[in-house]
Amino acid sequence: MLSASNLSFPDRIYLIGFMGSGKSTIGRLLAKKLNYTFVDMDLDIESEQGSTISDLFEIGEKYFRGLEAEKIRTLSLRHRTVISTGGGTPCYYDNMDVINFSGISVYLDCDVDSLYDRLSGSKHRPLLTNLSRAELRSFIASKLAERNEYYQRADVMVDGTKSASEVLDQIINVIS
Ligand code: S3P
Repeated sequence: MLSASNLSFPDRIYLIGFMGSGKSTIGRLLAKKLNYTFVDMDLDIESEQGSTISDLFEIGEKYFRGLEAEKIRTLSLRHRTVISTGGGTPCYYDNMDVINFSGISVYLDCDVDSLYDRLSGSKHRPLLTNLSRAELRSFIASKLAERNEYYQRADVMVDGTKSASEVLDQIINVIS
């Protein structure tokens, strides 16, 4: 983990974390505050491919992960940009190396209960479709445990369960 004293102001800031951790909401606010460009990786992939993430998963998750890996490499060359990644982005190929090599990564840490509350009404996420409420809870718990080793490689970790303005303040305090 880095502290404010050993961070130089980053050209690229990557928000990482589980689905529902607030990456897109916080990313948009952070970019506005810093006067940076904001990129939501999933939206960028959707508009480039002319397909929804769900349709891309229909072709195959492996296919989607390939597109995601290509996208993160392209975005790693952007300047003054806040990038909200997909929940799985850091966990495939060597994407987390690309992220940490090219910018500052911020993990929005959320516990299972908060994620469960936030994701209960989620309709558009292919990994969550057709799960009962009980299945959703155990899926979140096991996926989060599986992905934790990647998320823990973030330069900065903030409490993602707080309000958006509090999360934003935590990030600004560490990176500026
Ligand atoms: C995924 C998270 C999604 C999206 C895709 C897969 C994941 O993004 O990339 O559905 O593997 O956790 P969000 O984290 O923005 O929901």
